[in-house]
Amino acid sequence: MKQKEKVQKYEKKIKEISKTLEELVWEMIRDLRESEQQYRSIVEFAADAIVSINVDKKVTSWNKGAVNVFGYSEAEVMGQDIDKLIAHENVFHEAVELSQKLLNGESIRSFEAIRYGKDGTPKNVLISAAPIFSHDNLVEAVSIMYKDISDLKQTHNQLVQTEKQATLGIIAGSIGHELNNLVGGMLIHARLIKENYGKPDRIKEYNEYILANLEKVAVHGKNLLSLSRPTKPQLEPLDLNVLLQQTTETLILSGVLKYVTIKTNLHKPAQPVYGDRNLLEQVIRNLEINAAHAMPTGGVLELATALSKDKNNFEIEFRDNGSGIPKELQTKIFEPFFTTKSAGKGTGLGLPIVKNILEQHKGYITLESQVGTGTTFTIGLPIAKTA
Ligand SMILES: Nc1ncnc2c1ncn2[C@@H]1O[C@H](COP(=O)(O)OP(=O)(O)O)[C@@H](O)[C@H]1O
Ligand SMILES: [Mg+2]
Repeated sequence: MKQKEKVQKYEKKIKEISKTLEELVWEMIRDLRESEQQYRSIVEFAADAIVSINVDKKVTSWNKGAVNVFGYSEAEVMGQDIDKLIAHENVFHEAVELSQKLLNGESIRSFEAIRYGKDGTPKNVLISAAPIFSHDNLVEAVSIMYKDISDLKQTHNQLVQTEKQATLGIIAGSIGHELNNLVGGMLIHARLIKENYGKPDRIKEYNEYILANLEKVAVHGKNLLSLSRPTKPQLEPLDLNVLLQQTTETLILSGVLKYVTIKTNLHKPAQPVYGDRNLLEQVIRNLEINAAHAMPTGGVLELATALSKDKNNFEIEFRDNGSGIPKELQTKIFEPFFTTKSAGKGTGLGLPIVKNILEQHKGYITLESQVGTGTTFTIGLPIAKTA
């Protein structure tokens, strides 16, 4: 082939290739535009609030979801400081800290927080956000998504209340039964006194029996009152050894654990954990009543406290030698409304709520179980750092 022909051949090839390349580039641009449009319409019509802010925390975009969730129109918020807009005094500090983290280049996922709408109503929101970086790797904006979970939260709180009432129903029923027995015993002894007038020794003996039973009645009365006290969520440093003992004591007195032998092995000193006393009592009661239900004709419930292996958590172990839980049900039991019990005995809400309460406390629950041998539930709560 002559030199010239060769060059022509190559030129032709190059032209062909660059045409293909050009087509490819155009195709890519079309794709990009399309996906950008898709992205835009997703953002525009999303039910969740999707907001962008610049490095001065000023709002630069505000979708329809944000209008719905917070009640401000786009025109009202453009250029406003996001934290001053939707974080009231009580959460302002936390909001500013969060924004700072994002502007420093961190991302966050599903952070549960409270923000406020235009009319002042608090909204339970899950915040997910990520910074957007410029070519030279500096944060130039932040994209934030707020998922309004206020309704979910309310439903959840109602369920916690329902389960609490069901548990209290079980305890109250049992106390009723105990009271009946005590009163029955006292009635017999009162009659005996009547029949034995003139026999001081006998009367003294019967009277003592009645007094001892009356004391038990008084304790039941006190317990019933303490069980029904209203609960306001409140975090405080707690000694889990004491909380475990007190809660168990109340259950024993109520008669719910009548056929159960309790053995306790406490790790001392307890490391303090931060928690809500009422919610954690609810956790302990649930696990102990579940254990009692798993041993209807009696058994042993071993309660032990310990430091976790990594020493960051304080743990309570509830070990029963009851029916056990088949492998295939061991995750199912944490699903709402899963129960193997008859109505009046089970709601299927105990374990999901126990799990949720522990998650709220940044703790955990695990279980080990074998059918016919028994079940051990272990809960752990982070040890409070002394300031
Ligand atoms: N200690 C246990 N031993 C055996 N089975 C258990 C134990 N704890 C829980 N379960 C099983 O898990 C199910 C769900 O428990 P829970 O959520 O507390 O609901 P409920 O007690 O109202 O049924 C129970 O119905 C039972 O089948
Ligand atoms: Mg239960």
